[in-house]
Amino acid sequence: MDIIDAIHKRQSIRSFKDREVSQETVREILNISKYAPSGGNTQPWKVYVLNQNIMKELESAILNNLDNGISEKPNFSIYPQPMSDHLKNRVKECGKLMYGALEIKKDDIEGRLNQLKQNFSFFGAPVGMLITVEKEVDLNGWGHVGHFIQNLCLSSIKFGLGTCLQESWSMYPETVQKITNYNKSEILWCGVALGYPNNDHPINNYRTPREDIETFAKFL
Ligand SMILES: Cc1cc2nc3c(=O)[nH]c(=O)nc-3n(C[C@H](O)[C@H](O)[C@H](O)COP(=O)(O)O)c2cc1C
Repeated sequence: MDIIDAIHKRQSIRSFKDREVSQETVREILNISKYAPSGGNTQPWKVYVLNQNIMKELESAILNNLDNGISEKPNFSIYPQPMSDHLKNRVKECGKLMYGALEIKKDDIEGRLNQLKQNFSFFGAPVGMLITVEKEVDLNGWGHVGHFIQNLCLSSIKFGLGTCLQESWSMYPETVQKITNYNKSEILWCGVALGYPNNDHPINNYRTPREDIETFAKFL
């Protein structure tokens, strides 16, 4: 598949077919993704590919947290506090499109919470992964892990697979650490739901817009 086609085809997938993905395929995708560039070739990413038991355990622990109003301090700021208007407007637009596709109204708090909860079953994907960043690398290294994640999302497309990145997992770093035992020298960044897209579901049938290049590029 042409790289430019893959870039255009990639979108967040939040509903999956009930179809397994072999571990061999996951290994192949990771083997491709690892060729991401990183400063000094530091490769500061770590990936935890979860088995079904761990996925179920995580889901029930986090839903229990949510249902009982238990919160944890994320290890990084998921959204800037405060957030400037131009960023806030994009977040609003993104939510409007997703909830609009699902016909969940703005004041439907329960409907929105239920959609948030879907994150913790990896949206029903057969493969759930967690991505961590080595703590010592700081801001610069996070960008390098981003290259790795983008490779993962793009290369999955070649196998007919779809992905959704999920920072929602970082809402509960302690619960996730206890269950997965990820190394405490790492920061939990995000989850990745991976599977065959269910193209019939409305949540996979809208696209998020992008700004014109005039808004983010200056030709000096
Ligand atoms: C690091 C990262 C974390 C994300 N976390 C979530 C998440 O927790 N739940 C979710 O539904 N989407 C999540 N997304 C998906 C974004 O909302 C999505 O990428 C954005 O709206 C653009 O849409 P597109 O991916 O379909 O192009 C995340 C994306 C990134 C890059």
